[in-house]
Amino acid sequence: MYKKILIATDGSETADAAVEHAAYLARAVGADEVVVLHVCPACTPELDPDSKNRETAAEIVKKAGESIASEGIVVRTLVEMHYPPEEVGEAVIDIATSENVDLLILGSRGLSEFKGILLGSVSHKVLQKASCPVLVIKAGE
Ligand SMILES: Nc1ncnc2c1ncn2[C@@H]1O[C@H](COP(=O)(O)OP(=O)(O)OP(=O)(O)O)[C@@H](O)[C@H]1O
Ligand SMILES: [Mg+2]
Repeated sequence: MYKKILIATDGSETADAAVEHAAYLARAVGADEVVVLHVCPACTPELDPDSKNRETAAEIVKKAGESIASEGIVVRTLVEMHYPPEEVGEAVIDIATSENVDLLILGSRGLSEFKGILLGSVSHKVLQKASCPVLVIKAGE
């Protein structure tokens, strides 16, 4: 059922927990492939002339990809930069659709310091609008 799994990460601790769950689940169900996605609107050459943002983005997907691959799972990494900053959730949804994934996994919260509400804007948007099954990981304290 879950042949292709998409894990969206911003490199936060909660997303790291979601990556761990993605690896475990992919292995348990015998998924064919896990796609690791980081959306980085500030990674375009115009906004990132010294490539710092692209380096960070590449590190984020590499780290997640390696931890999943170490479970013996086929992994592909993606950095998406062609979206406005307020449309990270839309980017995640669009890529889940175009990649035709069977399951999308993400964390409940991300890098934001403000932790007063259950979901961040990306997880909220994805839960509201995604047309594929979504698994939201709320990491334990
Ligand atoms: N740029 C991104 N690329 C890929 N996945 C992301 C990105 N930002 C967030 N996510 C995913 O969404 C989850 C929830 O993050 P979200 O950004 O919604 O929360 P937040 O940072 O706490 O709040 P907000 O960004 O709304 O201030 C993360 O754990 C991660 O899985
Ligand atoms: Mg965020």
